[in-house]
Amino acid sequence: MNETVIGADHEFHDRDFALAWSERFSPTAQRLELFELVLGELRAAIPAHGRVVELGIGPGYLANHILQAMPDISYCGIDFSTPMLDIARARLERYASRITYLQADLVDDDWQEAVAGPVDAVISTWALHDLGSQQNVQTVYAKSAGALRGRGILLNGDFIRPDGATQVFEAGRFEVARHLELMRQTGFKHAKCLALLEHDLESPTSAKNYACLKALRRMNP
Ligand SMILES: C[S@@+](CC[C@H](N)C(=O)[O-])C[C@H]1O[C@@H](n2cnc3c(N)ncnc32)[C@H](O)[C@@H]1O
Repeated sequence: MNETVIGADHEFHDRDFALAWSERFSPTAQRLELFELVLGELRAAIPAHGRVVELGIGPGYLANHILQAMPDISYCGIDFSTPMLDIARARLERYASRITYLQADLVDDDWQEAVAGPVDAVISTWALHDLGSQQNVQTVYAKSAGALRGRGILLNGDFIRPDGATQVFEAGRFEVARHLELMRQTGFKHAKCLALLEHDLESPTSAKNYACLKALRRMNP
C-alpha cells in the first residue's frame, strides 16, 4: 500500500501550470495574515529606501502587498520560472521603477552576488519547501546571509512539518526547530518562529501548516 506523502508536484516552467497555480492561490485571508506579519517585520527592521530581495517571487502576490504598503523601498524578485516572472511583471507593472527581476536557480546559481548593492531584507513565502531537501534550504539560507552582507533580516513564511505530526511529509517540509538550527548555522542570530498558520495535525494537506520564521544576520558568522 502506498503511504500518502503531504506535498505536491509542480511544473513551474510550464506556462499553463504557472497560470493555473497563480489563479488557484490568489491570497486567502490566512495568507494575507502571513503577508501582514512579513510587512510588520519589514516596517520595524529596514531603513527608509531599504532594499528587499524576495526568493521565489512566483505570481508576485507578496511583492504587490509589500510594494503597495512601503512606497520608498526597492525590490528584487528572484525566480527560475520564465512564466512566473512574466506573471509577476504583469501584476507589478505599476511598481516597475522600484522592482527588478532576476532569473536564477536559488540553489545552483550565485544570485547572492548578482543582487549587487546593499540588501536589507531577504523574504520568501511558500517557496523554499519546493527545493526538495533540508540541504538545499540550508544552502539558500547561507546564500541569503551572503546577500545580506552582515546586516538585515531574513523572513521565511513556508510550509513545515508540524511537531507531533504522524504523516509523512515531502523532504522540503520539515520541523520549525530544524529551520531555526539551519538559520543559526548559516550566519543568523535570534532565529524564531513568529506564527504557525493553518495549523492542522489531524488532516494536513499540501496547502496547510506554514510558519513565519524570522532571523537577523550576525555581523560575524
Ligand atoms: C509555490 S510557488 C510560491 C510563489 C510565491 N512565493 C507565493 O507565495 O505566492 C514557488 C515559487 O518558487 C519558484 N521556485 C521553486 N524552486 C525554485 C528554485 N530552485 N529556484 C528559483 N525559484 C524556484 C517557483 O518557480 C515558484 O514561482
